[in-house]
Parts: sequence; structure tokens; C-alpha cells
Amino acid sequence: MCGIVGYVGSKKASEILIDGLKRLEYRGYDSCGLATITDGSLKVVKSINRIESLENDANHLEGCIGIGHTRWATHGEVSIENAHPHVSQDGKFAVVHNGIIENYTELKKMLLEKGFTFYSETDSEVIPNLISLYYEGNLLKAVKRATDDLIGSYALGIMCVEQPDVLVATKNNSPLVVGKGEGENFIASDFGAILKYTNDFAILEDREFAVISKDEVSFYTKGLESAFYSFIKLDTNVDDMEKSGFAHYMLKEIHEEPNTVQKIIKEYLHSSKGSMKFQIEKHDIKKVEHLYIVACGTAMHAGLYAKCLFEKLARIPVTVEVASEFRYQNPILRKEDMVIFISQSGETADTLASLALVKDKNIPFISIVNVKESTMDRLSDNVLYTKAGTEVAVASTKAYIAQTTLLALLAIYFATIKKSYDEDELKTLVEEIEMLPSKLERILDNEEKAIPYAQMLLQDQSIYYVGRGMDYYLALEAALKLKEISYIHAEAMPFGELKHGTIALIEKGTDVVVFANSPALWEKTLSNIKEVEARGARVFIVTTMRDLQDVENYDILVLPEVHELLAPILAIVPLQLLSYHIACMKNLDVDKPRNLAKSVTVE
Ligand code: M6R
Repeated sequence: MCGIVGYVGSKKASEILIDGLKRLEYRGYDSCGLATITDGSLKVVKSINRIESLENDANHLEGCIGIGHTRWATHGEVSIENAHPHVSQDGKFAVVHNGIIENYTELKKMLLEKGFTFYSETDSEVIPNLISLYYEGNLLKAVKRATDDLIGSYALGIMCVEQPDVLVATKNNSPLVVGKGEGENFIASDFGAILKYTNDFAILEDREFAVISKDEVSFYTKGLESAFYSFIKLDTNVDDMEKSGFAHYMLKEIHEEPNTVQKIIKEYLHSSKGSMKFQIEKHDIKKVEHLYIVACGTAMHAGLYAKCLFEKLARIPVTVEVASEFRYQNPILRKEDMVIFISQSGETADTLASLALVKDKNIPFISIVNVKESTMDRLSDNVLYTKAGTEVAVASTKAYIAQTTLLALLAIYFATIKKSYDEDELKTLVEEIEMLPSKLERILDNEEKAIPYAQMLLQDQSIYYVGRGMDYYLALEAALKLKEISYIHAEAMPFGELKHGTIALIEKGTDVVVFANSPALWEKTLSNIKEVEARGARVFIVTTMRDLQDVENYDILVLPEVHELLAPILAIVPLQLLSYHIACMKNLDVDKPRNLAKSVTVE
């Protein structure tokens, strides 16, 4: 989604802003721009292409103060006029905005009546004009009055030509951090944008303000009282933001999966004792009667995987909800329930809104988050970190592996506390989890096996991904991966359900990818395979099982053997690679697929 970076110091602002914007690219955007103040006037450059296309013009901008933005269009098409920064009609104020102003129509009407004119279709353009309306020589006060009028979400970076040494920043329901350096200070919507320059961050609270100059950072409450903020350091590695020799971040991140699982094991398992290090009160676990898992996209698919484990091992009924539905459902939550939220970014708007709802009702919840100090992290008392490191590619890969591994351990932990499953079986499962990294390595060592399959599927308009039991949930994630980066339509179906309608679409040459990891369901799966084969489908089987009978007619990818409850953690990997190679063969922008954003910070 949109990204913000701001700088004030003694270096050339445009260079730092371009660098920061490039580091925000992965969040997804369709236009970009920046503004500096030079010789008492605002200079603005914008582009509806990639950041590189901005570089030349930006290079001509002098000035040691500036704000930059990547826009992911919501109100108004992708155009130069709609790109940020937006400038007030009098040319005095420049603003970059993340979020959505819900009452912009009324505000615009009011401003039009007062004689203001507008050049864009955006909701954001009302902001610099409101500030201009209220400005009486003090930028902070004008920003406060303007934001008092705003309904909606925002993170704002603001400059004024009459106060050319300061940036003002504020936010509501959209993240914004302040970075402190030596003789230079920064703002950003994402730590990663400025991590190269500082590792001293303050996280701005909703409706509070920061006033930033070269040598000073001051914070103010909603009522403009002076506020104290402490600065924190992150343990994020700036190298995570590099491709380290890989052609794409996505490929690099897939190759990090064995290490990601290893880190989870180290963090949550006492290897010698076979016990776990979760700090969740035992009595809280014992009294859980129903679990809700709430998340979006890939994180939600990890939740579906976990549903199978919690139900089978801990014997707790689980409802998995898409966060954008859960938040408007008036869910029936009782004190005996527990909610698990899952998010890589910790900034997904719908998941955060669902969390706020659950928190408000005082229902116990756990958050599974990758990004430390994200909003979800800070709103939660019980956080389990997935420790996958920065995930840059829009298509989530290593985060899914981290989420599923962590959830598998958590389900085993619940089962141990509840004594709901055979102890030796649980031990075996833990031992199998410890062997996952080497099995993942083996799959990655055979990466080239994905290439002929990618060639075979490349021209497809639509592919079916099917499975029974937990293989269906795996199919959902595999299909999402294919859709988002290769733009090939993929439909995931519970295999047994196909004949209730969708089989009408199977004809000669339709490609059907079958996940088969459950010995108990194999006979049924095979019957379903025969049904689609009889209608002309070309069948590909992905399995962790050995010696399957009667499969000579099909392309079959046999993965390292693993406990069937852990199979999805392995079996997704070749499908991630398949999607990756198809997207590369189609010459698509693998890391930044069209229309998508890394973290979806608006509804
Ligand atoms: O940051 P989150 O895990 O909350 O993000 C949730 C989804 O937006 C995300 O998983 C999305 O579906 C990915 N693009 C999938 O690859």
C-alpha cells in the first residue's frame, strides 16, 4: 500500500527520499513523488512509473528537507495529478498521506465554498488546503485544527514553505515512525525505509504529533501538550532488504525457508527436553472451549492448516474467519473462547480491526506476528513471533512456512496441556518437526524439477488445485500463489466437492493439480482422479507418500516422506517454486505483482 518517507538534515533530501522510496517499493504502489523546499519554494516531482523514473527529475531538486510517497490508488485513477505529495492551492503546504479520509466529500465541498480549487480526484488533497485554511503562522497548530476535521485513517508528513526547517507528522490508524539520527531526522511509514540511516525509532501514537527539525524531535499530545516518547532499537537486519545474489526477493525468501523453520524450533522448543517454551498460562489453555483464528490471505490459509491440527490433536473446535468478514459479523464470542490472530506484517487493517473488537470484549487472544513493533505486536499482550526476518516479496512464502510450523508446535503444546492426544504420538510429531529443515533443503536442492512443470502449465488460462482434508487448505494457498504472481486463474476445490458442479468445467486438457498426502484418504482421492481423468483432465500429483498404486498415467512429484500432519509445510514449497518460475517465464514483475500491496493497510 502507500508509503511515506521524510527527511530533514544537511544532506541532499531528494537522494535520501529516493533511496527510502525504493525500500518501500515492495509494499506495492502505482505512482510516486517527492517534494523538497528550495529557496523558499516547494519543488515537486511525480511519476506514474517506477521510482527509477523519478530519479532524474529528483536529482535536480536541491534542499535538505523533503517528503516522498508511493501511492496505491484508492480515490482516483493512477495519474500525475493524483500522485502525492499534494500541495495546497496557495503553494505553501505539501502533504503526503497514507490512509483514507472518509469525510473528504463534505470537507471538499466546504473548501470549494470558501474559494479553494482542486486539481486531483483524491481524498488527500483536502488536507493541505485545510491546513492552509487554518494556518496563522504556526504549522503545528494548523495541522492539529485540520486533523480535528478528518474522519478516517491517516499517516501524514507535512511541510510548509514559511517554516522551511521543520516537518510535522501525525497519524490515526495508519503506522508512522520517527527516526532519530546525528544532525538529521526522519519519518517513515515503515522502519525499513530508513533503517539504513538510523536504528533509533519512536512509534507515533494515534492523533499525536511530531515536529522534526535537523537537530531536534518534539512530540505533542492530541491537545498539543508536550509528550514524552522513548526511542527503541530494532533487531531487524538491513541485509534482509537485499536480494543477496538471487534474481528476486521471492526466490531468496523461498530459499530461506529451512533456516526459518530452524529459527522457530530454536525459539520455541527445548530440544533436549522435547518440551516447549510458550508462555501461555496452562489454566487459560485448559479452559478454552472454542478457538477462532482470524487473518487474511496466506495468513488465513495458515490458520486453516492449524484448524486441522488443533481439532485433531487438542480436540478444540476451531472456526477460521477471514478478518474482513469477522469484523462486521458481530461474532458470538464467549469468555471460554480464545482467538488467534495471524499476520506477517502486523499492519493488515482488517485483522487489526478484528483484534480491536476482540480486545474490547475482553476475550483472550494470541497474536502470531512476524514484524516486531508492528501495530499488532504493540496492541497484543500475548505475541508469538514467527522470526522469519523481513519478507519483501509481495507473495508470502517464508512467512507461511513460519506460521504453519509455529502453529503446529502450538497445537502440540495445547494437546500436551489438555492431555488430549497420545503422548508418544506427540513426541514423534515434535521429532518430525525437527527434521523439517533438512527435508526442505532437499526440496530446494531439486528446484529445477519445477521448471518442466512450469513450461507445461505456462499457457493455461485456468488450473484446478484439489485435495481432500488438509490438502484442500494447502490447495487454497497454492492457488493463491499462482494467481497473485502469474495472473493465471487457479481454483482450489475440496476434491470430493468437484462433482457437485465444478466438474462441468473439466474437459480435454484441463490441468488438475492433486495434493495427496493422506494415506487414509488416498483411495477416495484416486477415485476423484479417475473422475476428472475420464473427462480429459491432465493430472499432476504432488505427494509425500511412497509407492502409490495405479498412478502410471499421471505426472507425479514425490516429496520427502513426512508425518501427514506436517505435509503441507513441505508440499507448498514446490508449488511456490512453480508459481515463481511461471511468473519468470512470463516476464512478470515477480516481487511486485500488479494491483497488490505487501501489507493491506486499508479496508
Ligand atoms: O501481513 P499479513 O499476513 O496480515 O497479510 C495478509 C495478506 O494480505 C497476505 O498474506 C497476502 O494474501 C499475500 N499477498 C499472500 O501472498
